[in-house]
Amino acid sequence: MKDQDAHLRFSHDNNRVFSGYEKRHVPPEDPELTHTDPDTPMGEFLRRFWQPVCLSGELSDVPKAIKIMGEELVAFRDKSGQVGVLHRHCAHRGASLEYGIIQETGIRCCYHGFQFDVDGRLMAVPGEPDGGARLAEKVSQGAYPAFERHGLVFAYMGPYEEMPKFPEWDFFDAYDDLELVPFTNVYPCNYLQSFDNIPDQIHTSQLHNASMRVVGDDDDGDYPATALNPVFTQTPVMEYASVRDDTAMVFIAGRRVGTDKIWVRMNDVVVPNLTIHANLFEDGRDTRYFHRVHMARWYVPVDNENHIIIGWRMFGAAIDPFDAGRKERCGYDDIDFLEGQTGGRPYETAQRTPGDWEAIVSQRPIAVHALENPMRGDIGVYMNRRNLRRALNGDNPHAQPGAMHARANAGERDYCCTNNTVLAIPMREGRDDEELVREVCRKMVEIIAEGDEYEGDERDAFIRDAMREYERSFAGAIAAE
Ligand code: FES
Ligand SMILES: [Fe+2]
Repeated sequence: MKDQDAHLRFSHDNNRVFSGYEKRHVPPEDPELTHTDPDTPMGEFLRRFWQPVCLSGELSDVPKAIKIMGEELVAFRDKSGQVGVLHRHCAHRGASLEYGIIQETGIRCCYHGFQFDVDGRLMAVPGEPDGGARLAEKVSQGAYPAFERHGLVFAYMGPYEEMPKFPEWDFFDAYDDLELVPFTNVYPCNYLQSFDNIPDQIHTSQLHNASMRVVGDDDDGDYPATALNPVFTQTPVMEYASVRDDTAMVFIAGRRVGTDKIWVRMNDVVVPNLTIHANLFEDGRDTRYFHRVHMARWYVPVDNENHIIIGWRMFGAAIDPFDAGRKERCGYDDIDFLEGQTGGRPYETAQRTPGDWEAIVSQRPIAVHALENPMRGDIGVYMNRRNLRRALNGDNPHAQPGAMHARANAGERDYCCTNNTVLAIPMREGRDDEELVREVCRKMVEIIAEGDEYEGDERDAFIRDAMREYERSFAGAIAAE
């Protein structure tokens, strides 16, 4: 059968051909999950979590104008080293503080010289007989708590009295030589599209497949820089699990490597806008047990039709055994893997070798969920959206901000499942291999859940030991046969 006849394989009993006219109207987007301006359900939810808002490297001797969740802000580091994230328009008469002059303490508006501390307090008003003391009793600049961590500026934009402690995730220091390197990727579309793209792991076998390119007369046959390695682009066996009381989900991608290894890759997708990734350069050739996190990133709305992916890439020999990372490529609107993570490539190049950026941005400024026709591979996308919706609606008490912050507020670490694990489990005579890979995937989730009984290094040790023991159980079975 020729490719162009492929449609003949399907029955179209319930569907109309040439239905363009019937489908010409585009329904509105789903505001519940996609709108994040002040007073929207998702916007209010996101504001109750620390969010990265820019790179430390973007703060210089002049203020940085930023926009987060529809709010115009200015970020700066004063000369004493305090970081400020203030409403952009001056409380006096609205001039933008992006033209403010950074002071030893705080910032001074360029227009009439009101000086504000990083917490928004009015410190001085030149020309007022009392230096501004009377005005300071009632005037302050809108301000958000902010701090820097490993090259990222984080701000908390919720009610001050509900401010949580910053969550200390297990991946921050998973290896002695770990270095967290900050980066951003700028996307002119709704934040949820990039967030959806992670639980949608089927796309790695299509969009990132070397065959997904236009082969023209001048194609040099080179492996396109938008493609992952050939083992990665096998269509994986996919499993999904909602974890930690539905405050996160993981996808579990199982791949047979050669005839004797099974590679299980697991990434966390965390309410409300964080994903945690296992090494993207893994090829599954060597055994590996609970190999941890090579990237964590937040999907931060600028407004409803723009967002920035802000996060860290992790470097060091332990997390990058293939020495595949390129630190110098991580920074403002840049990242060191897969071309097509950012805009700005020539249009024709983007058309011939499309990447995540082209696929995601082209879903419309705000993707229309009502027009989607899900396939089985979309389970993760809908599981994550369900987790978000249940959190917003208050249907899941564990996913309320207070509950999600409980560990951090008690000074305890937060743990994720993210890992690559490669087990020496050969194909077996008479056993359906896809079913075997699926069994291994499920077992990995089970082992990690058991590991959650432990803290810190004990957890890692328990999980790695249990994985090895499980692997050995197959060796025993083979020997006995
Ligand atoms: S507008 Fe800022 S001091 Fe007047
Ligand atoms: Fe991708």
